[in-house]
Amino acid sequence: MLDDNLTVGVLGAGAMGTGIAQVAAAAGHQVVIADAVPGAVSKARANIAKAMEREVDKGRLTRDAATEMVGRIEFRDAPLTESITAFSRCGLAIEAIVEDLATKQALFHVLERVVAPDAVLATNTSSLSVASIASSCAVSGRVVGIHFFNPAPVMPLVEIVPWLGGDGIVASSSYALMQRWRKTPVLASDTPGFIVNRIARPYYGESIRILEEGVADAPTIDWALKEFGKFRMGPFELMDFIGNDVNFAVTKSVFEGFFFDPRYKPSLTQRRLVDAGFLGKKSGRGYYDYRDGATAPPPKMDATLGLVIFQRVLAMLINEAIDAVHMRVASPTDIDLAMTKGVNYPKGLLAWANEIGLDQVLADLERLQSEYGEDRYRPSPLLRRMVRDGKRFFE
Ligand SMILES: NC(=O)c1ccc[n+]([C@@H]2O[C@H](COP(=O)([O-])OP(=O)(O)OC[C@H]3O[C@@H](n4cnc5c(N)ncnc54)[C@H](O)[C@@H]3O)[C@@H](O)[C@H]2O)c1
Repeated sequence: MLDDNLTVGVLGAGAMGTGIAQVAAAAGHQVVIADAVPGAVSKARANIAKAMEREVDKGRLTRDAATEMVGRIEFRDAPLTESITAFSRCGLAIEAIVEDLATKQALFHVLERVVAPDAVLATNTSSLSVASIASSCAVSGRVVGIHFFNPAPVMPLVEIVPWLGGDGIVASSSYALMQRWRKTPVLASDTPGFIVNRIARPYYGESIRILEEGVADAPTIDWALKEFGKFRMGPFELMDFIGNDVNFAVTKSVFEGFFFDPRYKPSLTQRRLVDAGFLGKKSGRGYYDYRDGATAPPPKMDATLGLVIFQRVLAMLINEAIDAVHMRVASPTDIDLAMTKGVNYPKGLLAWANEIGLDQVLADLERLQSEYGEDRYRPSPLLRRMVRDGKRFFE
């Protein structure tokens, strides 16, 4: 299953579909890509050509190799409804269309009638359950989540998400294929946010709480996380970059997916930014002002304050990572790989927990929980158990 000669189909030619098509072609596959909206595929073609030009300029690829690579991609300009039969020769079809369950279900329903009986149908969904997408298929065992990170050609991580009714061989073959594509696959359970989008929530949520309480402003919180945590981007810079609408949608989806567990509660601040159209960089305003001539206020570089902020956010992140181990979302190794290879965290959160001491993390969370009296700060039972038993991760 999923051999190196198969043709890869990519459905959806937006940011992710374009990147995935490029990755598959670079791995030597013939690729077919189509979209519902006219013009989307030509844009994908132009973007891939531009990316290839950069590779050639930087000496990472010869011009011949780049031309050959692009030549392996069949760009279907006709709307997907007319192009769907082109997917009949695909051994693997990866869906990367709009994040809407009914639209995805409708596509899978059509797709499964076109492809060969042994073709694998993958979804790149970030926040929907793979089970809910697979359930639209008559033969659903071959459906799997293959979740790339943005930009797909750059980010090594791919979350492989088997679902309740999926064939084991489909997930293991997808995992092996991603290794051959020189990606870093990890295995995640079909739970809200999978690994990365679940564990990363407090990076945003707790930082917004700190802002809302007036402990510090956005530049200071960003500075604290970069200065003391060595995160590449501060939470507010990152939210503005991702788009506050996109980040809010993921937060809401994870919160709803967990039956409104207070730990994942979205914030009013983020909702108001979205209400106001302050979506971040793309709209010119977000937490920061990106309009011409605007400058960001300087951070208050107070080390004592910075450390308090950093420790609070990190304790919440580590608690989330430990709870993901506790709830068997993924193995400790995969959890640490996911956060370093999917969102560029400077260290795996579990390795970080070992470094600062699990007892210290527990003490930080207990202090927050007693101060706020909120379930949001409840320490994971696994953290309590490991501290009680004097255990560490990876030992
Ligand atoms: N952007 C990210 O950071 C990111 C990361 C990982 C996964 N994802 C997931 O990947 C998927 C695509 O996201 P994106 O960021 O590329 O979105 P996008 O908006 O850039 O692209 C989506 C594309 O799908 C097309 N489309 C919509 N309905 C369609 C249909 N019925 N048939 C065919 N094409 C259709 C749109 O025209 C558009 O070109 C979503 O499920 C998203 O959750 C996104």
